Amino acid sequence: MTRHQAADSTPTTTGATATSATATGPMVAVTDLRRSFGTGERTVHALRGISFSVGRGELTALKGRSGSGKTTLLNLVGGLDAPTGGSIALDGIDLGGLNEDGRLALRRERIGFVFQSFGLIPMLTAAENVGVPMRLRKVLPAEREERAHTLLALVGLADHANQRPGELSGGQQQRVAIARALANDPGLIIADEPTGQLDSETGRSIMELLRAVVRSEGVTVLVATHDPTLMELADRVIELHDGRIVEEDAEQAA
Ligand SMILES: Nc1ncnc2c1ncn2[C@@H]1O[C@H](COP(=O)(O)OP(=O)(O)O)[C@@H](O)[C@H]1O
Ligand SMILES: [Mg+2]
Repeated sequence: MTRHQAADSTPTTTGATATSATATGPMVAVTDLRRSFGTGERTVHALRGISFSVGRGELTALKGRSGSGKTTLLNLVGGLDAPTGGSIALDGIDLGGLNEDGRLALRRERIGFVFQSFGLIPMLTAAENVGVPMRLRKVLPAEREERAHTLLALVGLADHANQRPGELSGGQQQRVAIARALANDPGLIIADEPTGQLDSETGRSIMELLRAVVRSEGVTVLVATHDPTLMELADRVIELHDGRIVEEDAEQAA
């Protein structure tokens, strides 16, 4: 529990100012969130009334066994799915008040996604992959290229910009995915088991990278993982069991 003490001893407003000069309140506020699949006897209650909030510039880990509802929750917070009940506010915006176009715009502009399977486009170079979200926002090529290289340097891949995913290791591919998630300068990064396909040492380095970008970019991260050794890097751990929060630990102060 000593690893980021020094950084965390700086004033608590640091993350907020880096993310947004004007916004106040939590980055994510979830209230009595419910999601069921199917109807009748075969209904699966994936989330049974979840409430929590995530502060700006905070790294929150979501843990829980397979099937506990982590992916369902992340998909809802990311606007990829709609809840059966309850509400989600992202940066003060009520997702329930948005139509499909509104949710799409919110996803593109304010959220970066990182998945277990990296999700890179095989035909594109690392730099081009990082550029994809900017292309969707019609950022001009020169600016795109410059930012892609800046972000690849940030994740330690300055010398790999022209390699394709197949020419990179799993850990390197996940670094590209993290650079891509940062491309549009999102307030929130949602990562669903980002280390699930990596060996434990590489996984740890990916979590350390997420920890580092929380600090340097002021971004907020919500990450699902069931690797207990990675929990110590989080500011906060929320545990799900069968669609409910079972415990919510603040980081143990040393
Ligand atoms: N699209 C779906 N249709 C039916 N059941 C689903 C669907 N998505 C998730 N579930 C169910 O919801 C529960 C929670 O799943 P999930 O959120 O994927 O858990 P986790 O990510 O923690 O492993 C599981 O019982 C799963 O089978
Ligand atoms: Mg999952």
